[in-house]
Amino acid sequence: MLDRYSASRYGGFRPENLGQNALGMIGNLCFTMFVLGVLIFTIIAATYEPEDPLFHPSTKITTFLTSTSNATFKSDNTVVKTGEDFMASNQTAFAAFINITDVDNMTLVSDHRTSSTLEETHCEGSMDTPIDCRDPEVFHMMMRAAIERFKDIHFYRFGKPVPGSNDSTCDMAWRFRPKEGKTASFYKDYRRFLISRSMNCTLSVVEIGDYHTGVNARKRKKNQKPGFEKKPEKQDQVTTLPVVGEVVNDALPVVESEGSFGRGKYLIYEGGGDRCKSMNHYLWSFLCALGEAQYLNRTLVMDLSICLSSIYSSSNQDEEGKDFRFYFDFEHLNDAASVLDHGQFWSDWNKWQKKDGLSLYLVEDFRVTPMKLAEVKDALIMRKFGSVEPDNYWYRVCEGETESVIQRPWHLIWKSRRLLDIVSAIASRLNWDYDSVHIVRGEKARNRELWPNLDTDTSPDSLLSTLRDKVDDGRSLYIATNEPDTSFFDPLKDKYYTHFLDEYKELWDENSEWYTEMAKLNKGNPVEFDGYMRVSVDTEVFLRGKKQIETFNDLTNDCKDGINTCSASAS
Ligand SMILES: *[C@@H]1O[C@H](CO)[C@@H](O)[C@H](O)[C@H]1NC(C)=O
Ligand SMILES: *[C@@H]1O[C@H](CO)[C@@H](O)[C@H](O)[C@H]1NC(C)=O
Ligand SMILES: *[C@@H]1O[C@H](CO)[C@@H](O)[C@H](O)[C@H]1NC(C)=O
Ligand SMILES: *[C@@H]1O[C@H](CO)[C@@H](O)[C@H](O)[C@H]1NC(C)=O
Ligand SMILES: *[C@@H]1O[C@H](CO)[C@@H](O)[C@H](O)[C@H]1NC(C)=O
Ligand SMILES: *[C@@H]1O[C@H](CO)[C@@H](O)[C@H](O)[C@H]1NC(C)=O
Ligand SMILES: *[C@@H]1O[C@H](CO)[C@@H](O)[C@H](O)[C@H]1NC(C)=O
Repeated sequence: MLDRYSASRYGGFRPENLGQNALGMIGNLCFTMFVLGVLIFTIIAATYEPEDPLFHPSTKITTFLTSTSNATFKSDNTVVKTGEDFMASNQTAFAAFINITDVDNMTLVSDHRTSSTLEETHCEGSMDTPIDCRDPEVFHMMMRAAIERFKDIHFYRFGKPVPGSNDSTCDMAWRFRPKEGKTASFYKDYRRFLISRSMNCTLSVVEIGDYHTGVNARKRKKNQKPGFEKKPEKQDQVTTLPVVGEVVNDALPVVESEGSFGRGKYLIYEGGGDRCKSMNHYLWSFLCALGEAQYLNRTLVMDLSICLSSIYSSSNQDEEGKDFRFYFDFEHLNDAASVLDHGQFWSDWNKWQKKDGLSLYLVEDFRVTPMKLAEVKDALIMRKFGSVEPDNYWYRVCEGETESVIQRPWHLIWKSRRLLDIVSAIASRLNWDYDSVHIVRGEKARNRELWPNLDTDTSPDSLLSTLRDKVDDGRSLYIATNEPDTSFFDPLKDKYYTHFLDEYKELWDENSEWYTEMAKLNKGNPVEFDGYMRVSVDTEVFLRGKKQIETFNDLTNDCKDGINTCSASAS
């Protein structure tokens, strides 16, 4: 699995290769050596267990939920931090980034290789000679140009340039991380470089295109078949790193070989009152099921279709027909855990059940603990949930004594990389050099009983005075907010370059890559950039700011969940 992230299929440059290159110089084969360089890009699986990010201590929330008759989650329209948000970059093996010194050292190598006389004859009289993107010198020049231009990111790998749109452009891809990043994710970018040749044959980079313009350097991932034969015991340890910007391969897993279906053990949750609830409720429940499946060493049969709660929909109605993959990274889940889509499952079940004598074990009471199910030998355990809330919530399985046994595998849930790609595009446009402020207004600002000062504290005047000590004048300031009328914040423009999510609409509109990809995923039907996606992207852009200023604590002393809740929610 690591292979996918480590193999330098396109023979790019990474600092680990330097030693190899020195040898290669002797043989005048340095660049072949790039390709052959032994790759050590080992990423130590982060064995770190993030705390339940939603609620902790979790007993508290459990009490809260069971003590109210219509237990719903209060923090309805907030976006939960997911696994990738909790992987601090120091929890992964150190991967050296490439700096200008490294590239300079390589330049020596290439000077040696390229006979200057040859180059001159080659160029003489014809400035129009196409730029040879495969020329190592061009490669060096492009790397230098990229490193010098993008000061706020660290480069981890360069792919070899390939010809761009015409004879004077080359496309090059690289993997990077923001310099001040707090998370471990890598990002991929590929841009178009416009290169000119002067009279004396000197090459120079005239212009570097925008984020993801170098489409010819974008590599398609080898079409791997989604695997099914996995060792469940590995599940908890496998934590690779997200690479935002790589092609996503989240096709549904299938059971490959005949007979393997019958050897599997499965767990399925059916029915229940969780549908169309908030996304936090969904995750809380889904992760309980997944946690139980892992505990029982079973494959979780899941329903990828999701009902989007009215709190996130523009129609203000619950909307069926959404897909897990719109919001979360199914590829990662499928790589790291054993899951199967229920459609596929039932078709296989019907095919093999009689032949293989597969049996079903039905559980209709959530009080039957996972521990009691450990000895069950049947191929399928089905938990059925009734129609009476809140006893029909999936997460109730994980309450009580189970709570100390089953830990929700938060690290298996990452946000959709297609959404994170939008995040990365926005941050790239801000050159990864911005501060961010999260301003909660909306209902809360109007509710003076629970949030007496919020409205005033988030007014432009208060903001200007609060931010004065925190954000330097003239900085780019990304404002993540639920305030629909962003002109409300206009007074901040006197001191900051303000930015809002809606400025970046073209990243998800009809001409965007996101739009095309989502339609493909959705059987050709367009997918709306809905309220949950908005908040998701807004939150993640906020989290990538250099300085991050939150509403509660930073801007106001009101409590997040209303008056007198500060001690309860502080943790
Ligand atoms: C759920 O609780 C809210 C607030 O406590 C209340 O307004 C609502 O009517 C309740 N709904 C049901 C179905 O009991
Ligand atoms: C990572 O950083 C955090 C805080 O920045 C620190 O508490 C933790 O010990 C570090 N972990 C490792 C493995 O260095
Ligand atoms: C680049 O890396 C070398 C060693 O690998 C280090 O000595 C040098 O200070 C670094 N330069 C920059 C600008 O970070
Ligand atoms: C780069 O070259 C300089 C001298 O040319 C050398 O001192 C340094 O160690 C080299 N750096 C690397 C990372 O190989
Ligand atoms: C090549 O394409 C770039 C933009 O992609 C453009 O700026 C440049 O003028 C083009 N050059 C030629 C020779 O057409
Ligand atoms: C070639 O020309 C460029 C400007 O056209 C100049 O900057 C550079 O120094 C020249 N190089 C040589 C080797 O003469
Ligand atoms: C699951 O597998 C692990 C490792 O093989 C084993 O230690 C554990 O007892 C198994 N759990 C159950 C419930 O069978």
